[in-house]
Amino acid sequence: MKWPLNLIKKDDICAEVGVWKGKTSELILDMEPKKLHLIDCWIHQNYKDRMYSVEFGADMDEIYNMVVNKFKDDSRVEIHREKSIDVVFPEKYFDWVYIDGDHSFEAVLEDLYHYYPLIKSGGYLCGDDYGWVDVNCSRGPKPAVDYFVKVNNLELQVRNTENLGKGEVWGKGVPFVIKKND
Ligand SMILES: C[S@@+](CC[C@H](N)C(=O)[O-])C[C@H]1O[C@@H](n2cnc3c(N)ncnc32)[C@H](O)[C@@H]1O
Repeated sequence: MKWPLNLIKKDDICAEVGVWKGKTSELILDMEPKKLHLIDCWIHQNYKDRMYSVEFGADMDEIYNMVVNKFKDDSRVEIHREKSIDVVFPEKYFDWVYIDGDHSFEAVLEDLYHYYPLIKSGGYLCGDDYGWVDVNCSRGPKPAVDYFVKVNNLELQVRNTENLGKGEVWGKGVPFVIKKND
């Protein structure tokens, strides 16, 4: 099973931030969590060439309804159609959170600050696309994650680093994990 999905233990409380059509959500559910919160605003945003750009023309209501329908019989799943930092949870509630929403530097940093206090001691704050950049921003998740880890004196794990720098700027699909120890 793919890292960092294999860090999920049976009956964990998990969240995926940025869900799109719920493909990764299915893989998370295969790990048998007790609860999975799916958080996505499913709105068009004013970026160029992202799956949720206005120009891309995806029907966000249709995608949202498809996800609702896909998981309607799974009582472990709770869907939050909201911006990632507007969703309120208790502190130290989650065992595992996966950040894969807006990949811009500022948005990733906001997500890290919002979700880190919500992770239990011994839990994991993970995310995707560590080295990703696009035409909208030259600074994506990597500098945000690196900054967050440095100022909070945390330990960062990054895998798939062999993809870094091979034709793409930092590569794609490179997950990161921050383990919470306090
Ligand atoms: C890369 S896709 C998620 C892919 C998904 N995790 C998967 O593996 O299939 C990014 C998603 O983040 C959502 N998104 C972007 N900005 C967001 C925000 N500020 N709050 C919540 N969701 C956001 C978009 O609507 C989009 O569905």
